[in-house]
Amino acid sequence: MKRIGVLTSGGDSQGMNAAIYATVRYGLQHGFEVYGIRNGYKGLMNDDIIKLTAKSVEGIAHRGGTVLGTARCLEMKTVEGQQRAVATLNKHGIEGLVVIGGDGSFAGAKTLSTQYGIKTIGIPGTIDNDLAYTDYTLGFDTAVTIVANAVKDLRDTMSCNDRTCVVEVMGNRCGDIAVYAGLVCGAEAVLTPEVSYDAEALVARLKANAKKGKLDNIILVAEGIRSRGELVKGKEADYIMEDILTRMPKINIRSMVLGHLQRSGDATVQDRLLGIRMGAHAVQCLANGLTNRAIGVHNDAIFDEDIVEALAKTKGLNVALYELANNLSKY
Ligand code: F6P
Repeated sequence: MKRIGVLTSGGDSQGMNAAIYATVRYGLQHGFEVYGIRNGYKGLMNDDIIKLTAKSVEGIAHRGGTVLGTARCLEMKTVEGQQRAVATLNKHGIEGLVVIGGDGSFAGAKTLSTQYGIKTIGIPGTIDNDLAYTDYTLGFDTAVTIVANAVKDLRDTMSCNDRTCVVEVMGNRCGDIAVYAGLVCGAEAVLTPEVSYDAEALVARLKANAKKGKLDNIILVAEGIRSRGELVKGKEADYIMEDILTRMPKINIRSMVLGHLQRSGDATVQDRLLGIRMGAHAVQCLANGLTNRAIGVHNDAIFDEDIVEALAKTKGLNVALYELANNLSKY
């Protein structure tokens, strides 16, 4: 194999640039020509490809976003879209592809390798940490750090006003960002999609706090929470706030959505390290002739495993951390 490509797809995450950096530099050192595909699978279908050099990736490892651009590409689910993608790869003689993204991007990678014979390696890039086969995904550590710092600052105004704030964080039906950030910032309650929302228990907690003179609370709520088994529709933070207000009409309360700030700004050192190590491992896989592999990290060791097997694993809530987060903040 002489030519390999790299693309980022789906929601961007910090650490993607570090993975691109290592894929390009390590790839060149292994004698590959390395091509960057712009805007994910969309770029593959539109033949939007650039040749990358060591210089192209200079100084990018710390930066948020992705220098290659990204997109969510539904066409990659269609045979026509897949054939267009493969035709572009064939045209450029690109035989190996590193795909950096979440589960949707991995599904595309799996199709390219199992159905079209493209040697494909997946690197988990998503702030959500919702891929079960790996301890961490790229961007998760940065997103948690951003949420924890934001809540730390938010407490300044909330505490001097004896005010409660419902803060919504991302996660795409996975509560990890809320749980990890809630634990380190001492949120008075953490609500996640994996545990059905219990309004009575939340209000009981707020009333117990109030009795002890604690009137400022941070309630961290992950997007995708469920109430009585049903997905909460609309803005989760507003839903929870309104729900509390119907039960505690006099409470001083606000809501906010942290939103895309969680995907903005420099990557933490942890995410840069992970991106670089995963990028290098992906190139090593291609150099060894492997295909359809998902790169992961477990107990700080980087590993690769079959993408089909990786995607078949089901992510569960880290119950111990969830309980610790909700118990430590008890008054
Ligand atoms: O999957 C990453 C993620 O940031 C989710 O947490 C969130 O639900 C979604 O992407 C937001 O998507 P978009 O950037 O397309 O608004």
